[in-house]
Amino acid sequence: MLNSPRSSQNLTPPTGPLPRHIAIIMDGNGRWARRRSLPRLMGHREGVTAVREAVTTCAELKLDALTLYAFSTENWGRPPREINGLMRLLRNYLVREVDEMVENDIRLVAMGRLDQLPSTVRKALERAMAMTENCRGMRLNLALSYSGRSELTDAMRRLAAEVRRGHLQPEEITEELITRHLYIDDLPEPDLVIRTSGEERISNFMIWQIAYAELCFLDIPWPDFRKEHLFRAIRDFQQRDRRFGVIPQQVRERVG
Ligand code: IPE
Ligand code: IPE
Ligand code: MG
Repeated sequence: MLNSPRSSQNLTPPTGPLPRHIAIIMDGNGRWARRRSLPRLMGHREGVTAVREAVTTCAELKLDALTLYAFSTENWGRPPREINGLMRLLRNYLVREVDEMVENDIRLVAMGRLDQLPSTVRKALERAMAMTENCRGMRLNLALSYSGRSELTDAMRRLAAEVRRGHLQPEEITEELITRHLYIDDLPEPDLVIRTSGEERISNFMIWQIAYAELCFLDIPWPDFRKEHLFRAIRDFQQRDRRFGVIPQQVRERVG
């Protein structure tokens, strides 16, 4: 688990090879608020500041993609008041940030059971995705009403339907084909998954795509996340020895 004291060195962007795709499990908003005797929603509201900083910093680093786990299918089980508050924050974020996304050449995409979202959120999402459609910089992928198991279930339903129609033979189902049937089929797999709040679990997040991702757990709640924490996680990632099940020399030969 990484702790990150503030220092000017921590604010210097990392040099060296960067992850192409970072995925973040933004956790700890409720505890951030509780520690201050505030309602949980205040923690979510404060979390939006951290989202802005993460998005801007990753775009400046020119990553291919940043995925943010914003709302899980399991989160629908929370009290309606909290869900409504989260949906309102999400809609406002999309409405307010879209112009800056366009300015920063960020293309917004989303994955999850999006039809379950309130129509106000869906409309704001569709508008923001349409407005950023031609942006060619970083892809910002929001995981909304998302879980890894529901994504795989939906992918398998589509594959089964193709088999039933006679368009696909069961033996033609490969790992590549399953990947192509996920919600978003053209993002590189996350190289680095960051989770804040001190919890060390995946909570049903991108379980197919993160098979070989490096995991970084930060001991701070999401509202406290700033660029130095991101840089720290990336530096930690750069120290990792990624072997992909083979011996180190073979990895070097493969990646050149
Ligand atoms: C993450 O913070 C935000 C969402 C899951 C929507 P939490 O709301 O889970 O905060 P904690 O984990 O209870 O502190
Ligand atoms: C994971 O956080 C989901 C999101 C960050 C959106 P949770 O707070 O819902 O996960 P658990 O309950 O700690 O596993
Ligand atoms: Mg949580």
